Amino acid sequence: MNFQGKVVIVAGGTGALGRAASVAFLDAGAKVIATYRRQEEYDALVASAGVGAARLGGATVDVTDESAVKAFTEGVTAQHGRLDVLVNAVGGYAGGKKLWEADARTYDQMLALNLKAGWVLARAVLPAMIRRNRGWIVNVASKAAYGRSAGAALYAASKAGALALFDSLAEEVKTYNINVNSVVPSIFDTEANRQAMPGADFSKWPKPEEIAGVILFLCSEEARVVHGAAIPVYGRT
Ligand SMILES: NC(=O)c1ccc[n+]([C@@H]2O[C@H](COP(=O)([O-])OP(=O)(O)OC[C@H]3O[C@@H](n4cnc5c(N)ncnc54)[C@H](OP(=O)(O)O)[C@@H]3O)[C@@H](O)[C@H]2O)c1
Repeated sequence: MNFQGKVVIVAGGTGALGRAASVAFLDAGAKVIATYRRQEEYDALVASAGVGAARLGGATVDVTDESAVKAFTEGVTAQHGRLDVLVNAVGGYAGGKKLWEADARTYDQMLALNLKAGWVLARAVLPAMIRRNRGWIVNVASKAAYGRSAGAALYAASKAGALALFDSLAEEVKTYNINVNSVVPSIFDTEANRQAMPGADFSKWPKPEEIAGVILFLCSEEARVVHGAAIPVYGRT
């Protein structure tokens, strides 16, 4: 897949999946702007980007902050003259407590990271995509959205909300040639998951790079007919 000349925002671009997606887009020739919060994470992304680092930019943005995200996306569009792709790889997990044990702070955090962030980001990138009558948005959801997530009700609800949000958006942008899809991982192979589950069989977990490949496909011309989908990327988990 060739993304030369395309401008891609990867929100959460220094996270486990975000980093893999950023590097994959760079390898395919795109200009990538990754949002990040910690400088050392961005430095690690630059190091893993190799020669592609010349086409990589970064910005520290709290993606739940509407005005900060609007200023950021307008800056990207002004600098590069276009904005083709948004990948939202921001997210957070809270679990291990029953619904009646989890507190209001966790509720706010889950809704902010997994639902509001997607809304804020999509809202900010859509004007530029609508102007060009083309664009691609991929949100990273979770299998938990489909229910039976005992001990993670707030996470599951926030991810289910995000699926509904992007599914509805897909209907709304049909006339603008903007492809909107979600990928739906179960567990995948990250350092954090390895540390949390040292006894698990890591070989069964999809690699972030494999999921990133699906994200790239969804943003390719070849996937023009895939719209309003939620693609499972569970692998063998
Ligand atoms: N890992 C899994 O097994 C798994 C399974 C199913 C679904 N998912 C979903 O897949 C997505 C990526 O997961 P991951 O494991 O790659 O997560 P990750 O490594 O924690 O990456 C998430 C990224 O989002 C950033 N972030 C968090 N809050 C932010 C904010 N307010 N503003 C800007 N950036 C913020 C984090 O920055 P900091 O590092 O500074 O916090 C981090 O870079 C998430 O939506 C997650 O829910 C993951």
